[in-house]
Amino acid sequence: MNQVIIYGSQYGSTYRYAKQLSEQTSIMAVSYKEAPDLSGMRTIIYMGGLYAGGVLGMAKSLRGFSIQNGQKLIIVTVGLADPDESENRENIRTSLQKQLSPELIGRAKIFHLRGGIDYQKLSLGHRMMMKLLYQSLHKTPLEKQTAENRALIETYGKQVDFTDFGALEPIIQEIQRG
Ligand SMILES: Cc1cc2nc3c(=O)[nH]c(=O)nc-3n(C[C@H](O)[C@H](O)[C@H](O)COP(=O)(O)O)c2cc1C
Repeated sequence: MNQVIIYGSQYGSTYRYAKQLSEQTSIMAVSYKEAPDLSGMRTIIYMGGLYAGGVLGMAKSLRGFSIQNGQKLIIVTVGLADPDESENRENIRTSLQKQLSPELIGRAKIFHLRGGIDYQKLSLGHRMMMKLLYQSLHKTPLEKQTAENRALIETYGKQVDFTDFGALEPIIQEIQRG
């Protein structure tokens, strides 16, 4: 076993993507809480849900890891904001730079997937965070909002799921590129 998918998922979207990717590539998927030693791995695929720009579990899992020649690091974020909007991709990239060393950022292949949210299933803390965020945002007209905040306002309080397993295809191609 020299390839691994590590996932950080609080509510299941990232887990579902990781499981599907695992089935399609036959690479074992494990939670970041049980991540193996990465030093001997040829391919490391880190998939994590976005929480206030942070990729769940990623900084902890990759702390102290330095990438060697011949090793491949693929980072996949899963968030509510639409990664087809360049502004959203730029925001995610900016916050990734705060979580990873320039060396890892420079070597990693980075992909963005869209997850979902179900307000009924959120923890009390997360529900409070979203409420405060919504209250601070919704006074500004929609057309003046950033794409990311618009997505938050439009889905506030709802159950939405933008999961698209087809979006795994470029990631599978990157894994198979050797
Ligand atoms: C407190 C909180 C903060 C979030 N912050 C972001 C964010 O910064 N960017 C984003 O695109 N999505 C954000 N989301 C949405 C999650 O990334 C989305 O629900 C994702 O599918 C969660 O993955 P998981 O189900 O694997 O935990 C946030 C959700 C919550 C509850």
